[in-house]
Amino acid sequence: MSVVVFEKITGVRRWSEDLQAKGESVGFVPTMGALHQGHMSLIDRAKDACDHVVVSIFVNPTQFNNSEDLANYPRTYDHDIGLLKSVGCDALFYPSIPEMYPKPEKKHWDFGLLTSSLEGFYRPGHFDGMLTIVQKLLEIVSPKQAFFGEKDFQQLALIRKMVEVESLPVEIVGCPIVREHDGLAMSSRNVRLNEKQRIEALAISRTLRRVNEESAFSNPQELVRRGMDLLSDAPGVRLEYFAIVNAATFQPLTEWPENEEAVALVAVYIGEIRLIDNMVINKKR
Ligand code: PAF
Repeated sequence: MSVVVFEKITGVRRWSEDLQAKGESVGFVPTMGALHQGHMSLIDRAKDACDHVVVSIFVNPTQFNNSEDLANYPRTYDHDIGLLKSVGCDALFYPSIPEMYPKPEKKHWDFGLLTSSLEGFYRPGHFDGMLTIVQKLLEIVSPKQAFFGEKDFQQLALIRKMVEVESLPVEIVGCPIVREHDGLAMSSRNVRLNEKQRIEALAISRTLRRVNEESAFSNPQELVRRGMDLLSDAPGVRLEYFAIVNAATFQPLTEWPENEEAVALVAVYIGEIRLIDNMVINKKR
């Protein structure tokens, strides 16, 4: 199976327009590469829903608030293209930085707690850069549907909001987190973990599972303390945040909401590697 690679905006735009003019649907999976089974699950979902699938690989400099993180971000083009062929992806959009940013550009969005809390607080500028590139990519590819992982829970909520505010004609589809057999959420950053760190990182999903179990008999505030204690005591883990918020508003919770979802979100450092994860709390389990 071959994958057609577009490096220019005009190429991928024409490809998508021509297909859609013939009445064939295009699904889009934006990525920063270093593809793994989590990305493959997004592509599978897109293949089920749409006639054609295009993936983008672009390590977007404007969403990195730390130059070392950008420099160390894994770039694995040969491996990625092999995976895209094996999964039957139709097209890859692989632009250069000057192609996407002929001039410096970073829009600013303010969606209250959605932009200012958690990732927004700890990674200043990250969401502006992320939303800038996602809007540009969606406008270039103009797919019927675009697919994003729920691991980046706050990112997904913001993309939905941006699409609504900018009236973009695309349906955003959220796809479940894919976990390794032992619970670690799949992430492009996992390849940077050494053997010891890989084991230490299991404290993240272990804590989320424990908190979810204990939600049957504890309130959110007690569980935030519990989650923070568990992660602070875990060897090799440096806690950045552990929070339980309303999944729609990102308002921190003191009680379980009646008809709305609650989500526990976490960010930690394992050595120099920053990992995030989350779990929607199912307090009726
Ligand atoms: O989740 C990612 O990989 C990136 O944030 C995205 C959505 C591709 C934008 O660069």
